[in-house]
Amino acid sequence: MSNLEELVTRAIGAFAACEEPARLEEVKAAFLGKDGELTALLKGLGKLPPEARKEAGSAINAAKSRIEAALHERREALKKSQLSAQLAAEALDVSLPGRGEAQGALHPVVRTLERIEALFASLGFAVADGPEIETDWHNFTALNTPADHPARSMHDTFYLLDEAGRVRADILLRTHTSPVQIRAMQAHTQAFAGADPMPELRVICPGRVYRVDSDATHSPMFHQVEGLWVGERVSFADLKGVIVDFLRHFFESDDLAVRFRPSFFPFTEPSAEIDVAFRHGPLAGRWLEIAGCGMVHPHVLAAGGMDARRYTGFAFGMGLDRLTMLRYGVCDLRLFFEGDLRFLAQFR
Ligand code: DAH
Repeated sequence: MSNLEELVTRAIGAFAACEEPARLEEVKAAFLGKDGELTALLKGLGKLPPEARKEAGSAINAAKSRIEAALHERREALKKSQLSAQLAAEALDVSLPGRGEAQGALHPVVRTLERIEALFASLGFAVADGPEIETDWHNFTALNTPADHPARSMHDTFYLLDEAGRVRADILLRTHTSPVQIRAMQAHTQAFAGADPMPELRVICPGRVYRVDSDATHSPMFHQVEGLWVGERVSFADLKGVIVDFLRHFFESDDLAVRFRPSFFPFTEPSAEIDVAFRHGPLAGRWLEIAGCGMVHPHVLAAGGMDARRYTGFAFGMGLDRLTMLRYGVCDLRLFFEGDLRFLAQFR
């Protein structure tokens, strides 16, 4: 039986020499397979005299178990070393600085806009929209500012050129959001033609506007929010109530001072400028102009298709960037439009 002992030693040695699981299975076949050495010994049992069979059989089976145990052990060892090789190959160096996820955020002017929309929505105002390339008629004429009206020169208008390089008289970059008043009234009177009375029209119209102007408090492109409320008995008292309520909520201050200073706009009569004064903080005690407003001029109501003898309304136009500067304490308007992340990241 010493050759059985030698067989077991050889098998263990052969298993140990295998570095690959596939190779191990091949070597296994040479001992335990159908034509393997051990199998051959078992097959040979039949040729032994019956008295010798039992002893030889149990010796061979004992050798077989030892070989199987060695095979199992080698399989496990190979599996383990393969896993640790894989772990080593795919290891992460956790001490490297991360690439970081850049966190996005809303632009401060957009935050202001969303706040304004939410506050006016709570007062029943919808949001209306209009084009930035506007007709001269919507931007001026319909707003009671006919050609040659001196008020047109208050707006340093960007005009557009035709193919031949001539200034076009019919379209321009809108200088304010007020033309959206006309568009909203036209859509409203069309939608409710024949209704008696017409439902009230309550909209705010935020958007970009353009003027030839640039310094710390003026940018050639800036933002306004227009407001319009038209109905059967809308009065200047309603205007004051809405504006004061809005401003106190917007600035989160109950003791904000608000004043309506008589002024002139072609599209309102009477007209006023709205000033606010804070009681606390670096700007305390100074009157700051933030909007224009007034009762919608009958010519403007008529241009919007409204019966000016029956309906009245108020309108206002606020500087969105101005409100953002005041709310966040920003002193240069241009910072909003330069896209400098060091500035913008402060509003995350
Ligand atoms: N459109 C004016 C401007 O840009 C602001 C304004 C004043 C709007 C009075 C209004 C208003 O609706 O009633 O200077």
